[in-house]
Amino acid sequence: MDYIVGDMEDMHQIGDNSMDAVIWCSVLCSVNSPTKALKEVIRVLKPGGHVYFSEHCLYPGGACRLNRKSCDDIERCGFRDLTINHVFRDNARDILMNHWIWGHGLKP
Ligand SMILES: C[S@@+](CC[C@H](N)C(=O)[O-])C[C@H]1O[C@@H](n2cnc3c(N)ncnc32)[C@H](O)[C@@H]1O
Repeated sequence: MDYIVGDMEDMHQIGDNSMDAVIWCSVLCSVNSPTKALKEVIRVLKPGGHVYFSEHCLYPGGACRLNRKSCDDIERCGFRDLTINHVFRDNARDILMNHWIWGHGLKP
């Protein structure tokens, strides 16, 4: 296995349609542009390639850039057979855990 340390928003070291799967955990909350990052995910995935993710995101009334609607960004970017699971926890001791999502999709 090769390891590349890089930028989710500019994965120029990775060819188009070359990855079987992309997996990330809590990164859309921190990138400069979630739209750019998701476009790169789509670009590097092979058709039918899998995406697995988890994120903490916008909590109604609540506040790591947790003001982002990462679930909407993921829904909009065109994955097929997308499943997003949500956990909402009122008054969680850690605000980072108030709205958590995880899911799976396929590149069309
Ligand atoms: C909330 S932390 C999550 C860290 C780890 N993935 C986890 O789940 O514990 C967000 C991470 O996103 C990374 N990050 C921010 N912008 C990035 C980018 N453009 N490309 C790749 N990683 C980025 C940060 O360095 C940081 O490690």
